[in-house]
Parts: sequence; structure tokens; C-alpha cells
Amino acid sequence: MKDKVKKLQLLTEVLLQKIKKEKIVPADIDELREALRFHEYRYYIQNDPLISDYEYDLLYKSLEGLEHENPDLVVADSPTQRVGKGLTKEFPSVPHLVPMLSLDNSYNSEDLYDFDRKAREQTKTDVIEYCVEPKFDGASISLIYENDKLVRGATRGDGVYGDDITPNIRQIRTLPLTAAFSAYGLQIAEIRGEVLINKNNFKKFNEQLMEQGGQPLANPRNASAGTLRIKDPVEVGRRKLEAFVYSLGYYSTLNAKQKGPETHSETLEMLWELGFRSPKKEMKVLQGIDEVISFCNEYEQQRDDLPYEIDGMVIKVNSFVQQDKMGMTTHHPRWAMAYKFKARQGTSKLINVDFQVGRVGSITPVAKIEPVPIGGVTVSSISLFNEDVIKEKDLRIGDTVLVERAGDVIPYIVKSFPELRKGTEKPIKFPKTCPSCNSDIVRAEEEAAWRCTNINCPAQVLERLIHFASKDAMDIRGLGSANIEKFYKLGLLISIPQVYQLDYEAISQLEGFGMRSIENLKAAIEKTKTQPLHRLIFALGIRFVGETMSKTFARAVDHVLDLKNFDEDALQMLEDVGPKVASSVYQFFQNEDNIELIKNLENLGLQLANEKKKVFVAGNLKEISFLFTGTLTRLKRSEAEELVEQNGGNIVSGVSSKLNYLVVGEDAGSKLEKAKKLGSIKIISEDQFLAMVGKN
Ligand code: IVH
Repeated sequence: MKDKVKKLQLLTEVLLQKIKKEKIVPADIDELREALRFHEYRYYIQNDPLISDYEYDLLYKSLEGLEHENPDLVVADSPTQRVGKGLTKEFPSVPHLVPMLSLDNSYNSEDLYDFDRKAREQTKTDVIEYCVEPKFDGASISLIYENDKLVRGATRGDGVYGDDITPNIRQIRTLPLTAAFSAYGLQIAEIRGEVLINKNNFKKFNEQLMEQGGQPLANPRNASAGTLRIKDPVEVGRRKLEAFVYSLGYYSTLNAKQKGPETHSETLEMLWELGFRSPKKEMKVLQGIDEVISFCNEYEQQRDDLPYEIDGMVIKVNSFVQQDKMGMTTHHPRWAMAYKFKARQGTSKLINVDFQVGRVGSITPVAKIEPVPIGGVTVSSISLFNEDVIKEKDLRIGDTVLVERAGDVIPYIVKSFPELRKGTEKPIKFPKTCPSCNSDIVRAEEEAAWRCTNINCPAQVLERLIHFASKDAMDIRGLGSANIEKFYKLGLLISIPQVYQLDYEAISQLEGFGMRSIENLKAAIEKTKTQPLHRLIFALGIRFVGETMSKTFARAVDHVLDLKNFDEDALQMLEDVGPKVASSVYQFFQNEDNIELIKNLENLGLQLANEKKKVFVAGNLKEISFLFTGTLTRLKRSEAEELVEQNGGNIVSGVSSKLNYLVVGEDAGSKLEKAKKLGSIKIISEDQFLAMVGKN
């Protein structure tokens, strides 16, 4: 194995040299593919990349170029061919080779003892060997590989027929397009697994949705199931789905004598060896049910630390001979059992609905419910997003409602229970005018939100101020929503420029404002004058412009007012900027009041030129590579990486001889060990890193 890695690393070096010297030729195509497949495997399956993203892109683009020039050399399982034809029609319905059954559920150790008793009786065995693995909370899929090639991917559907979603399945990087089943004597293999979106990507995806005025998805499960069914494979690719595969539903052998795996754990090993992400590392083979119960309890404790959602464990009798003895019902196999973790759901009563006006005037209904503890957090207030949600869920004041909170996801109302209504429940009346200023409200076509039309609406002004000072915007400590509200009501703070002209004399007369807190507030406000430009752009509260978009705009200009010169087409040339965002930014910068506001802020001493861009030109980290590991205490990981890039350095994705600096945070693990072993990498602390970029 090690030799193979060495060989492929060497091959990669050679190919990269050729690419850099522009000496790559069509005869290199197969080797390029081999190298790319290997690095995709290291990255997506083993989570241990050996080359930087940049180098991967070099290889990928060069293969793409060669294939473009030589279309007859393109093959279906080339790493470039994940994006196939789009799905224009309905998804064709296809039969599963073997029905996809469900799992029986258990909720406590009694249920598991019961399951074990039956298993021992049916197999006439004293101690059963079990294989236990996580129950991934995503969408189930079935994949068919024929002669080592992925030929079909389908949803579970009703278990007998599913939808053929092959182009979307090909977008999932943890699924190889080719896998050497023939080496195990298998000709056709139907594999089952679960498609997931990890918590981080889910969060980012929801942020983007909200930035664009959309409604966030309730949980990663819905996001993965929904994504599998969209008709644009490129978009599917963007959403970064992942998949675990956990069983071989059906197989045919190349020759009759050949035998497939004999246990479930062997199957997981085999799938792993074939290049899939199976739960080989997560599973445990255990003797008897007591060991199973303790493992399940241990795993439940780590649930929140995993990068993806799981909703329980799956316990499987390991031996296939024993599985066959136990058989199945029409619904589930008798040899497997799901052990469901404690629900993160609760029921409560819908007491009232408040209507809040946001900084761009959107009116958001917020449900007030009787406080209910869910997964260690008390929930009493839940956003209902918009009028349609209220209608779709047919919610009424007084209803009993089911509330869910999945992981770090915001809580949401799953449904109401109409069968529990007493007749006293009242319909929720969406306001006809702005609940804050009584002005007209409008709902644009294709938009879910009603909006207040009065730009000077007090609720909007207040929300804009709160947003401006908030942690992810200008980050003014001591100017949180409570103080802003207080100052606003007293007329001490009614516009953004006034943040820099506060009447401290008047503030010092207020209760709770001593010398010390006033000095701290002054210092915090002074500090914001040199905040990086992207924070100011975000703080301006432009519709549809969130943190990510703000960074894109900041990178594109030398001074914020340069954005005045971008028309909608020019704006859309920027990364990920679509027509909606472009139109909003264009309108914002064509509005004289906004330009006046920005000039005003500059006169008050705010730094509105792109300082970082200047540092970038200096490029004092030019061609130096960095990697961060462990928990950073002073910077967010994304901020640290951005600092590297803005200073001309680059981020690599794994520890290899290519890495120059490993920046070590708290609780650093295997990457640090590996870097120490390699010896050539400079290992530095977060403070040392900050000093290197002039931030100490
Ligand atoms: S085995 C014959 N293993 O749970 C049933 N299922 O409630 C084979 N699931 O539809 C399923 N993680 O989508 C199995 N490690 C795992 C699983 C798993 C998640 C899902 C699967 C199935 C559902 C049943």
C-alpha cells in the first residue's frame, strides 16, 4: 500500500512538473486520471490530502484541457465527467434489484435485550457477534456498479421502485465512478448507503439561502433529500453532498465458484478498500448485547461532536449465515435493529405570533410557545419565516405544536396537531400594514416576504443600527441591542454616523453608565474605524449581502465607493454574484443618500479603502504555504486563512513536504504529530502567525 502511495505521489510530481513546463501531452491522459482519482480518494474518503487544492486544480484543469482538445479520448468515468447531462424531465422510476427494506426501531436497552433474545433463539447461538455503526440521518440511495463502473444511482422511493438520479449521484465526490469490484470476483453490485450534507456545509448553504431572501432548510436531512432531487447537477455539485455506503444489497459473481464477503464487517472493509467511504472506522464488532448497549451509549455522548447528523445506531448480526437464518419481514430484516437516540423534539403550545420588522423591512412572524426543553436548550420563540409557512402548516393560536431542534440548527415547528384542537384556537392574522410604522407593506412576485415600504420606519432604522454594531459586522462591544434600543428611544442614536458622534455627556447621566463603561464604549467604537472593508460592507446592511458576499465585494475594490462604478453586469462577473444580489448592490450604490452616508462615515475617520489589498500587493508571504490545526483562540479559522491569502501566501489542505508553516491552536492532533515527524515544517503558534501578518 505504502509503495502504491509513493508511486502515485511520484507520478503526481512528474505530472505537475510537466504541466508547469507546458509539456503535458494527450499520452498523459490516463496517468492524469489515475493521479486525480487517487487524490480525490485521499481528500474525500481518507480526509488526508497529499497535495494542495491548487495542485489538484492544476491536474484537473490540465486533464480537462486535454479532453477538450481530444474529445475522442473522453471516457465516462474520467474525473472530469461527474457533470453529465442535466435532468430535464421527471426522474424515471426504476426497480431496485432487491427491495430496499426499512429498519425496525428500538429506543431503550429493554428493546435491545429483546432483539438479542430473539436473535439467539433463531440462530441457536449463545453469544451473537454484532456489528454496530452509526445511523446516518440523510437520504438513502442505491447504486449499481456493472463491470466496475457506476451505471445507476437511485433514491429509495417506496423501497421497490426509486427515482433514477444518476447525474446527481455522480456529483457526490465520496462516491467513486469506477471501483474494482472485479478484483473481488463481482460483476454487478448494488450498493446501499446514505447521502448527507455535513453540518458546516449545511450552515453555509442556509446562510446563502437567507442572504438571498430564501427560507432556510429545516435540517441537513431535508437538505440532502431535497438536493438529490433538483434538476441541475452543477448546483448539486456546489452543495457538497457526501455519502456513506453500508451494504451490498445484491451482487452477481464473475464465476460461479467465487464467494462474496461472509460478514457485514467484511463488507464494510471491502467497500472501504474499493474506494468508498464506508463506516469501517466508525463501526465496532462486538460480542453479545451488553457490549452493544455500552457502545451505543458512548456514541450518543459524541453525537454533537460529529461533523454530520446521526439519529441513532444500527445493530446488525454480523454473520451472513446467521442473517439468512433470521430472514426478514416485508418491512424490515429481523437481523438488524435501529437504536434511536433521544428525540430532539418536543410538543408545546402556540401562545401567540409576533411580527418583527427586519433591517430591510421584511416582516417575519415569530411564534411564541410555552417554553419546552429540547436537547438541553429551552425553546420559547421560533421564527416562522413568512406567511406561506403559516398557511402550509395550518397553524393556529392555541394549537399544540411539534418542535424540532436538530444539532446546532435553529429550532422550527414541524407541524401542528389539528386532531387535538378544542375549537377555541384562533387563526393567525398576518398584518395588513407595517406593525411598527403602519405604512403600506408589499410582497414582490417570487418573494416570500412582505416588506414595509417606509425606509425611515423606526423598526428598520433600529434593526439597521443593531446590525451595524453587531459582532459579525463592526463588532462594537458595549453597543448591543439593549443599549442601542435605549439610546434610540432617547434620541441619542438615530442614524449610523451618529455612532461616531455620541453625546457621552448625556449617556453618562443614564443609569448603568459609569466612567469605565463609557471609556470602554469609546474605545470599542474607535477601534471600528480600522475594521477591514468587508465588515463595513456587511455592516451597511445591503439587501441579500451577507458575510460571504461582502468579502467578495471588498476583494473587488480599492475603495468602497468604487462599487458605484459597477453596473449589474460587472457585479455579476464576481464570484457567486447572481442577478438578485447584483441588482440590490447596484441600487444601493446608485442611491445618493447611501453615498452621502458612506462619505459621512469616511469624514468621521472610518477606513474605507481596502487596506488588505495593499498588503496583498506587498505579498510578504508570497509562495509560503500554511495550514491551521486545532482550535484557534483569537481568530476564526476562515479569518486566519483569509489573512494568509491576503498576504500572498497559500493554504494547503494537508501536511506534506509542500507545507511551510503549521499554525497550531489548542488541542491539535494528528496533523501536528505528522508535521513533527516530517521535520521540515515550521510549527508556530497563533500569536506567532499574527506577528507574521503584522497583527500583533
Ligand atoms: S441498514 C435492510 N445501516 O435508515 C435495511 N441503514 O430506517 C438496511 N440508515 O432506509 C438499512 N444509516 O436509509 C442501514 N448504517 C446504516 C444506516 C441506515 C442510516 C437509514 C437507511 C434506511 C433507514 C431505515
